[in-house]
Amino acid sequence: MKRGIVQIMAGQCGNSIGAEYWKQIAAEHGIDLHGKQVGSVEQLGNGASVFRLAPDVERHIARAILVDLEPGVVEAVRSGAAGQLFQPANIVNGQSGAGNNWARGHYTEGAELVESVLDAARHEADDCDVLQGFQLVHSLGGGTGSGLGTLLISKLKEEYPDRIFNSFSVAPSAKVSDIVVEPYNAIFTLSELIENSDGTFLIDNDALYNICHRTYDRINPSYADLNGLVAQTMAGITASLRFPGQLNSDLRKLAMNLVPFPRLHFYVSGFAPLIRAEEEEFRSRCSVRELMHQLTVGRNFLVDCDPNHGRYLTMAAMIRGDFSMHEIETEFSSMQLKHSAAFVPWVPNNVTISSCAIPPIGHARSATVIGNNSAVAEVFRRLLQQFQAMFAKKAYLHWFTGEGMDVQEFVEAAKNVQDLVSEYQQRGEMDFDDYVDNGIVEEETIE
Ligand code: GTP
Ligand code: MG
Repeated sequence: MKRGIVQIMAGQCGNSIGAEYWKQIAAEHGIDLHGKQVGSVEQLGNGASVFRLAPDVERHIARAILVDLEPGVVEAVRSGAAGQLFQPANIVNGQSGAGNNWARGHYTEGAELVESVLDAARHEADDCDVLQGFQLVHSLGGGTGSGLGTLLISKLKEEYPDRIFNSFSVAPSAKVSDIVVEPYNAIFTLSELIENSDGTFLIDNDALYNICHRTYDRINPSYADLNGLVAQTMAGITASLRFPGQLNSDLRKLAMNLVPFPRLHFYVSGFAPLIRAEEEEFRSRCSVRELMHQLTVGRNFLVDCDPNHGRYLTMAAMIRGDFSMHEIETEFSSMQLKHSAAFVPWVPNNVTISSCAIPPIGHARSATVIGNNSAVAEVFRRLLQQFQAMFAKKAYLHWFTGEGMDVQEFVEAAKNVQDLVSEYQQRGEMDFDDYVDNGIVEEETIE
């Protein structure tokens, strides 16, 4: 039974990160870069949820659509190391680019290309016996991945209303990019994702930059450095969907466990171990405790927010390597006791743990954590402040209104994100007594 997930990689960031991700997970599943299965059946696992056989049935190819409004990046992916993992018919590009303008991606240039992308996506969806859903990989700050990416999600949602939609969304950082209108693009995109995504894994170039700088001693980290880190974490996040016997074994279960309120579906995620070259031997011998220690201090999170400034509504962890379930469960119970203040008390079992014997590439043991933590609001606040500073002066508005956008859309998008910040704050602060005091429990009992 092929319970497939279709991935959409949109724009420069989405395609670059996506290509690195497929390279890593192909190796995990024992598939070489020509798509040939060279590993064991055990390694192949539930790989059929993300890979499928090519029409010649001799190769595995990615269930992925590559889209960009300009040809350069997808062309580089096609001719790059992972190029043969992608079906040429699934690569759709325009010629002109969105020029970092969300409105061009969402309303004008993007709208002209959207039907051909939808056709490719439908074709992939039809190939699955059961379609679990879609996952978009994109940046928040450019024009194509953000504008066309969110247009695609809203169109696909109309056609597949009961499927799950996830996104891996990269937030901008001034350390990495100097596109001035990124805060506008990011807030428009976030506002769409609040409505149309079921789960968004936030990735923050600020955090990636800091990790590469601090942990790997990179003076000026390149996109390749940042993307390696993202791909590694994405592989940890999706491992429970790709290997059999897991707790969060499909997109719906994952969302069900992680999302207590529909709008609050923005996750922070982290990977361990992050190690320097001189700590090489740590790769094979690290314990669950050591991995969790790295993750609970928050410096391994791919989002520049301090989890200690908020609380976890929920958390899902994936431990990979040759650990006993007993060790994993004991360590998690003691971690939850020790850090009980970090979790909201009104979700009794808010941590789900999966384990997978097959380790990721380059490590014998690893842990990935996905947290629905109210501190994620710090990223939204940072983007809102930058948005407001420009919007107060009406700076750069004409580029967007010139593509048919209304000033009111700016106001509404910012308000939507601002409301999300307040909701996260309120839910993160609300403790069990508030919950009972404000009558929610009584009301539900009366019903
Ligand atoms: P247009 O080029 O405007 O049509 O849209 P696009 O979707 O191609 O834009 P792009 O993805 O380049 O968006 C710019 C944002 O993405 C900036 O914040 C960049 O720092 C970030 N970005 C671009 N490429 C990469 C990448 O390979 N890795 C990471 N981590 N960030 C990237
Ligand atoms: Mg681009």
